[in-house]
Amino acid sequence: MTITFPDGFLWGGATAANQIEGAYNEDGKGLSIRDVLPHGLQAPPTEGPTADNLTLTGIDHYHRYAEDIALFAEMGFTVYRFSIAWSRIFPHGDDTEPNEEGLAFYDRLLDELEKYGIEPLVTLSHYETPLHLARAYGGWRNRKLIDFFTRFARTVMQRYHGRIRYWLTFNEVNAILHNPFTAGGIEAPRQQLSETELYQAVHHELVASALATKIAHEVDPANQVGCMILAVPRYGLTPHPDDQRKAQYEAQLDYTFGDIHVRGEYPGYTQRYFRDHGIDLEITDADREALQHTVDFVSFSYYMSVAEAADPAAGERGGGNIIGGVVNPTLEASDWGWQVDPVGLRIILNDYWDRWRKPLFIVENGLGATDELIDGGPDGRTVDDDYRIAYLNDHLVQVREAIADGVGLLGYTAWGPIDLVSMSTVQMSKRYGFIYVDRNDDGSGTLSRYRKKSFDWYRQVIATNGGSLRD
Ligand code: BG6
Repeated sequence: MTITFPDGFLWGGATAANQIEGAYNEDGKGLSIRDVLPHGLQAPPTEGPTADNLTLTGIDHYHRYAEDIALFAEMGFTVYRFSIAWSRIFPHGDDTEPNEEGLAFYDRLLDELEKYGIEPLVTLSHYETPLHLARAYGGWRNRKLIDFFTRFARTVMQRYHGRIRYWLTFNEVNAILHNPFTAGGIEAPRQQLSETELYQAVHHELVASALATKIAHEVDPANQVGCMILAVPRYGLTPHPDDQRKAQYEAQLDYTFGDIHVRGEYPGYTQRYFRDHGIDLEITDADREALQHTVDFVSFSYYMSVAEAADPAAGERGGGNIIGGVVNPTLEASDWGWQVDPVGLRIILNDYWDRWRKPLFIVENGLGATDELIDGGPDGRTVDDDYRIAYLNDHLVQVREAIADGVGLLGYTAWGPIDLVSMSTVQMSKRYGFIYVDRNDDGSGTLSRYRKKSFDWYRQVIATNGGSLRD
């Protein structure tokens, strides 16, 4: 018997407010950390917003959401992952009252999704901490952020009660170890932070995530809450046990996050890491109690894998999705140096399923590539993005194999179903979409939308529940 995608498998796409909405200062929105990062991870934050920051306008989804959602519906999406911009609801983060205009925007967006029967999957914090919380409080180093975040979570969970069932707390929660400003609102280079400061911030996020889970269940027992992990399989560069152990050691730094979200306590290997590195955290009894509120499912992003070597001089270090590693000589890389590894997705799915026995959800996967707009297609202009189709097809074939392996998987949301501003490089030219957006790196362009070849390809994948995938 051929095992394929289960009935009711959720198919769709994923975005983040700061990468698509634009309207950075409209209708009472406050600044977020992304509004001062015109060059992404490449350069330090600016004092305030600068005209060269593509994030400020994004792809103008704030005004074009209805048109965009109609295109998602045309592809047959049954789920759409987006984030609620925290600084649209609480402009400074520490406000006591929410901004009604911000709340009303997401009401309108949900109206559109309901029109087409698309299930919302909402990220509460997707690299868009209110700037004021970073600058006045030191970001997640400060325990007060737990209260500000849970106020935000409670506000939106109550407001959208019955309309949103699936919630994610922190996007790529483990990324804070690698990029403290983007992922933790901590405006200090990683090297300048002590391990204790960094892990105290991690701890605050973990407690906030657990409390948001508790609130979600109190507000509506039907709510399902997931953690969200940046998944990067790590292979030993050679079969030497030292390389294998190095790969395991690096993987454990990330497993910590899932282990705590699923099991409600710090694992032994993390406690040892703390001892070995002189890390002494403030963990209260109330914190330990809070962590008991564990997640209903585990979600993750997957783009690439890396290799690890015990000898720091072995192998060349490659680019990557916040987390980098040693270049794996058996794999090809994307134009941005991310090593493409479809089988790695099957490995991660099996690994996470065996480890946590929680339903999984792939909430990001895709290929950032340069596209050429040519004449043709239903809109007069299109992109022949066979490379994107090949990438997604090959990954989805491995997802299907993992399901046949017995993995419990709720759904798949491709990253950037519509071209958006890239997170790490703040470029438009790094495109992920099934829909082309006419906007260039210098900010020029009409913002018109054009269906790419992959648009119809994904529509068929969804319509056949994966049956049209090619081995
Ligand atoms: C993930 C992030 O790390 O990777 C997204 O959650 C991001 O926000 C995606 O866009 C792809 O990265 P980039 O840098 O190509 O946009």
